[in-house]
Amino acid sequence: MDTIEDINWGSLPFGYFRTDYNVRCTYRDGQWGELEVTDSEYISIHMAATGLHYGQEAFEGLKAYRGADGKVRLFRWQENARRMRMSASGIMMAIPPEELFFEAIDKAVRMNARFIPPYGTGSSLYIRPLLFGSGAQVGVKPAKEYMLVVFVTPVGPYFKEGFNPVKVQLVRDYDRAAPLGTGHIKVGGNYAASLRAAERAHAEGYASVLFLDAKEKKFIDEAGPANFFGIREMSYITPKSCTILPSVTNKSIEVIAADLGLKVERRPVPVEELETFEEAGACGTAAIISPFKSIFDRELKKEYYYGETAGVWSTKLYNTLRAIQYGEIEDKFGWTTILEGI
Ligand code: PLP
Ligand code: COI
Repeated sequence: MDTIEDINWGSLPFGYFRTDYNVRCTYRDGQWGELEVTDSEYISIHMAATGLHYGQEAFEGLKAYRGADGKVRLFRWQENARRMRMSASGIMMAIPPEELFFEAIDKAVRMNARFIPPYGTGSSLYIRPLLFGSGAQVGVKPAKEYMLVVFVTPVGPYFKEGFNPVKVQLVRDYDRAAPLGTGHIKVGGNYAASLRAAERAHAEGYASVLFLDAKEKKFIDEAGPANFFGIREMSYITPKSCTILPSVTNKSIEVIAADLGLKVERRPVPVEELETFEEAGACGTAAIISPFKSIFDRELKKEYYYGETAGVWSTKLYNTLRAIQYGEIEDKFGWTTILEGI
């Protein structure tokens, strides 16, 4: 599948598909330069760039949706801009201003408008901004130069099961993030740290891995690429932890859940509580809402089972979130930004 004509919009995987252009901006001599547009998929950088050696790299993930009314909407892009600033600050990179972040994503979407999946296909245009130290250092120091890159790619849901429940594996022999480390920001190193556990889980037949808190191994942290939630007796329960990524999707689902009449609890979630949930799942931009069929505790050989089909509340939350993103219902929380003229 190489050209746009070959795309089956309704069954897109979550993966890289080449689009026409990407957008770049360089920070040098203490300031951000002009946005540049290129059709090259490659970047030429110094071999001593700190992004390559010392992990000075952060990224974001958000989506553009072609709506029921034909308009293109971004979902809460300001939250991604803010998180990218936090990530930049957390690992001492130059901080992209909100206007620059928006200009870059707006341009990347516009210039690749033909890749925005049509309404009704359930797919969307994934926007991937990344920021890294491009300046050379050999001592362990922040770079003096940075590059912001934004590319886009049309995607379907992260888990191939879509909204069908997935099996996940809970692990105790790997951590993705340390207390007081970088789990709360979206830096590449967290994902490197999750790869071994995630690949093993895939090889053993699971869609994803679920990590525990690194310090005590008592509480649920999050899945490799998404936050965790459980639902019980009209309560939406999601972990509070300093090592998980503050998810824009989760934050939005909390608001929707409260609006639908659920109680919302954000607090440490002990592993034992998994037994008591009526529904459980993962949520994130890529994962959307992915209900769990089961969670298998790899070390204790214990399975928590939730069901073959998505639960009632997961379905309601999913439908409401999607309806806002695709402009099917009123955006009563003011979360979407229409990109006019595309
Ligand atoms: N947790 C991790 C580790 C992630 O990579 C992501 C994806 O961005 C999320 C949670 C979900 O965050 P969001 O809803 O902002 O996409
Ligand atoms: C996202 O949900 O946007 C993510 O970044 C998750 C994953 C693909 C890393």
